[in-house]
Formats: sequence, C-alpha cells, structure tokens
Amino acid sequence: MKYVIGIDLGTSAVKILLVNKNGDVVQEVSKEFDLIQERTGYSEQDPHRWVDQTVAGLSDLLKDFDGNKEDIEGISFSGQMHGLVLLDENKDVLRNAILWNDTRTTEQCKQIYHAVGEERLLKITKNPALEGFTLPKILWVKAHEPDLYAQAKTFVLPKDYLRYKLTGELHMEYSDAAGTLVLNVSEKQWSQEICDLVGIDRALCPPLVDSHEVVGKVTSEIAQATGLATSTRVFAGGADNACGAIGSGILEDGKTLCSIGTSGVVLSYESSNDKDFQGKVHYFNHGAPNAYYTMGVTLAAGYSLSWFKDVFAKGESFEDLMTDVGFVPVGSNGLLFTPYVVGERTPHADASIRASFIGMDSSHERKDFVRAVMEGITFSLNEAIAIFRKHGKTIDTIVSTGGGTKNEDWLQMQADIFDAKIVKLASEQGPGMGAAMLAAYGCGWFDSLRDCADAFLKVEKEFLPKRDNVEKYKKLFAIYQEVYGQTKEMNERLVEYRK
Ligand code: XUL
Repeated sequence: MKYVIGIDLGTSAVKILLVNKNGDVVQEVSKEFDLIQERTGYSEQDPHRWVDQTVAGLSDLLKDFDGNKEDIEGISFSGQMHGLVLLDENKDVLRNAILWNDTRTTEQCKQIYHAVGEERLLKITKNPALEGFTLPKILWVKAHEPDLYAQAKTFVLPKDYLRYKLTGELHMEYSDAAGTLVLNVSEKQWSQEICDLVGIDRALCPPLVDSHEVVGKVTSEIAQATGLATSTRVFAGGADNACGAIGSGILEDGKTLCSIGTSGVVLSYESSNDKDFQGKVHYFNHGAPNAYYTMGVTLAAGYSLSWFKDVFAKGESFEDLMTDVGFVPVGSNGLLFTPYVVGERTPHADASIRASFIGMDSSHERKDFVRAVMEGITFSLNEAIAIFRKHGKTIDTIVSTGGGTKNEDWLQMQADIFDAKIVKLASEQGPGMGAAMLAAYGCGWFDSLRDCADAFLKVEKEFLPKRDNVEKYKKLFAIYQEVYGQTKEMNERLVEYRK
C-alpha cells in the first residue's frame, strides 16, 4: 500500500494525517502549541515551536507505522493563513510570527488605503485591508521595529516556514499568497504597484508555486529526526481554508463549505476571477489549479464557545456543555448572542466591536446561554451566506466540517439558520485531508483533485431544514443583524477600559 501525509498547521495544534491510497486515515497525530498574547489584540507564536512539534509528531507517527517508509510517497501542508514570519539573510526567524487573529494593525490598514486607494486595492487584491492580513503586519514591524525590519530579507507564511525547515526550499503558494494583500489575485503575481505605493521592497516576496507542485524532498537531517525516507516528495500545499475546501470536495461551482473551528468560515467555489463582491467577502485563489473561492469569516466561532466554557464551565467537556441544547427551543428563550469576543471580520471588519448577550432573563439557565452562543456563531456565518445569495449565488447544499459537526443539534441548527441541506462527511478531516489530497494528486495517483475527492470522500448524514424553524430563525436573524449597529459606538467608548 502507498501513503501520503497531510500536515495541518493550525493555530492551536499541528495535526498530521497518514492517508492510504483508498483515502483512509490510517494514523493521526496531534501536537499542541500556545498562543503568546502579551496585550489585548496581540496574538503571536514562535515558529520554532511549529517545527519542533511537527518533527515530534512525524516521529511519533513513523514509530507506530509498520509499513515501508519509502511507501510514504508524498507530504503536503495546510496552514493557518496570513501570519507574518520574517526571515533574515540566513533565513533565520527575526521575531515571533504575528498571527491572523492579531488585530494591532488598524493604523497600517488606514495607511494602505491612503497609499493605494480603496478601489485600486480591491481591484488588485480582491480584498479589503484587514488587520488580520499580512501586509499591515509587515508595515507594523517597519514602523515599530525598524532595526529588525532592516534585517528582513524575505517574508513567508506559517506553513511555508515549516515546509522550508523540512526541505531547505523556500516558496509561497498562491492560495496563501492571496491572503497577504500583496498578490494580484487574478494575475497570480506579486504586485509591484502595491509594494511601491506602501514602500516595501518586492524582493521581500518569495517565489510563487502552485499548491500541488513538488518543491523538493525532506532533508536528510529531517529524515533522521523523524524516520521519514529521503525519497518522500514534498508538495507546496495550501491555505487552511483552501485545503479545507479541497478536503470537503468544494471543487466545482455550486459547492459550499461551512467550517467551524477556532474561527469559522463559509466558503464557496468560484471558477471565475472576475466577479465583484465589492470586498464584502474574501476572494482568494483556490488550492485547485486556476480556481478561486469566496469566503466569509467569523473571527471567534468555536473560540466563542471555548471562551464561554473556560469562563463559565471550566473543566467540563464540550459534549457535556452542549448536551442539553436540544431541549432549549429555537431562539434560546429570548437570549441572543453576537460572537464578537475578539472583534469581527465578515460582514463587519471591526477590531473594536465586542460580543453581547441581549435579553438576559432571570429564568435563563446555563443551557440557554450555550444555545444562544451556538446560534450567535451560526447567525454570524449566515451573514456571509446572505451576501453570496444577494450576489446571485445559489446556496442550497453546504458541507459542514470542524468542531461544529460533533453535535447533531448544531448541524440541524445550521440547516435551519442557513435554510440549506447540511452534509456531514464520514471521517471528516478538513484541511489535513485537503493537504493529503494535494500530495496524492501531486504524486499522480489521480488525474484531478475532483477524481481524488470522488475516491476519498463519503457522505455520512444529511440534515434538512425544518420549515417552522427556518421561519423563526429568519425573524431572529433580522434582530441579530441590528445588534452590531446598536452596540458599535458603545464598544468604541469602552476600548479605553480594556486590558
Ligand atoms: C482566513 C483566516 C482564518 C485563518 C485560520 O482569512 O484568517 O480562517 O486561516 O487559520
């Protein structure tokens, strides 16, 4: 039997999957790492930890592998997007990575708009200037850490750095480059114009490759440390959302994904590079060749629930926390939650907004709060679906992945709030599977990623919208949509009291 490995470098852990030629996950290892949050809005990680934990994970996996290591034919990656890793002339890391969920760069976003112009930026990058993206982070380092910036020779994204340490080859691929705000998304080239206008050297941008392209093999040092064979080919991989899409079969027009992890996304396949969503949702290059996807992001999806659990139910499992939500009626007995515990992305790109519980009543129990949090997260994701629909996309079937699929009440809630059929996959592995599929396709096991998806992915269960609930949620969603506008200014006034 032949195998590939998919490495998903997430925000809280690296997850490594060993997948055989039938698409079965035969081994799985996960290794955690911490966030470094020195101030409110800051979110960093030490890139060396990603490498150490990946090497440790690979070596655990290889220890338990009883096949022939040469039969592991390929490795590929999925990675948390946007995080800035700055390297010096020796390709050594200059500072901690500044991650996608770090929101310190509001000033730099304004600076980008001022230098490039909002419309021109949207034309070139297809996205607005958001705090989470990479270019504002580069400009922040330039402004606040000039000595360090002067030593920077190149920048990469998290999984690119990991791949570099495994192979000695430094690249970035299009699906992740699309989230830097320096790529001309439809032309698939670094934008000299943006670099000139904001004042960064284009030479900082690494060479670009396709997601399924082979970039090298594992170095002998890594082979020795992990037990991998030096013959194993390494493929570029993709952004976690692009890989999540591949790993869920979002590979043709009409297919949509909802993924609830730390952040939550709703994304939809796009074959064309010329639709205009006016920057209301992201428009990125896919990991599938010459394809795109549009996407809305809820910054704190699963994170809102884990925040709630940590503060009000420490030590309990998510299963225990959610066990009673099926007994709480639609609308959580009048309790409404907006999941803005770290700000929001779609449709309100706003680093200052914070969450609200509206309608707390002395009769409410903890289970009402839990259901309200789950509904609020799902409403937030529904905002992106509403934008897709407004721009003419048909959204009637959605593959649901991530932590949100572990609870069937939540899957039904998604069907009712999204007013669409929800598909749960058997052995849902999300981005890690997408990474493995890029390696399988790169190795030539299949003629296309779609053929690979047909062979690897199977549907486990479907959830249909219940008309009564759909109608109730439509009314509630309208109330939910008002909360942002009603609480925006109050939250701005509260900023000075935050840590
Ligand atoms: C996407 C985004 C997040 C990260 C999470 O724009 O910021 O989904 O990719 O890893």
